[in-house]
Amino acid sequence: MEVRIFDNKENLGEVMAEILCSRVIAKPNLTFGFATGASPLPVYGNLIEWYKSGRVSFKDITTFNLDEYCDLPRDDKNSYYTFMHENLFNHIDVKEENINFLNGNAENFDKECNRYDCLIRDKGIDVQLLGLGRNGHIGFNEPSTKFTKDCFRVKLSDSTIAANSIYFDENPMPHYALTMGTASIMRSKEIFMIATGESKKDAIYEMINGDISPLCPASVLQLHPNVHVFIDLEAAKRL
Ligand code: F6R
Repeated sequence: MEVRIFDNKENLGEVMAEILCSRVIAKPNLTFGFATGASPLPVYGNLIEWYKSGRVSFKDITTFNLDEYCDLPRDDKNSYYTFMHENLFNHIDVKEENINFLNGNAENFDKECNRYDCLIRDKGIDVQLLGLGRNGHIGFNEPSTKFTKDCFRVKLSDSTIAANSIYFDENPMPHYALTMGTASIMRSKEIFMIATGESKKDAIYEMINGDISPLCPASVLQLHPNVHVFIDLEAAKRL
């Protein structure tokens, strides 16, 4: 696990975007796994800059997002579909038909998860971006007694609901989501994690120095051969 510590999230975003763009330039039809939340925003901002200045094209990439809330209309302002379009997809030349999301409004969640798993297995994720929950979650794989495998429907933890409910000013935050499982994430060829701010310092410490345990789902990344952890000084406080 490579750990890089940056002075601030702006520097982190610039460096990671440069690396991600170099991956796309080397392999234009790269498959990305994308994350939502505050952490990747500086990276997405810089990817947009790279595209707008003509240094990279995303026209042949495929994307899979990690997770999506259940029972929230796709065009709700808090859906992850909307988040990704507003913060990245609407500003670059990725093709809409190459963008993949879990459907949190599917009639049959098992079938929907199976559909997504098959697509991911078929394409294979080259580069997966991850944020880190304060409780050590990756995707929406919450702390638990055993590691998860493929995509599944999850009841969000109190910690996640507390962290994300700040974005829900009109409607209550959903308590369920569909998420890629731990094994789906671990099958990615290369993983970039972003964690910034003091609220992540305990999870970062546990992920890197703790036992490999489903009580800190991110600790499983210790077993992945190609993980890059990008953090700021605040998140690095306990290292
Ligand atoms: C989002 C996701 C989550 C977030 C995590 C950190 O797609 O999968 O694991 O990455 O909750 O969220 P932020 O970045 O908002 O602190």
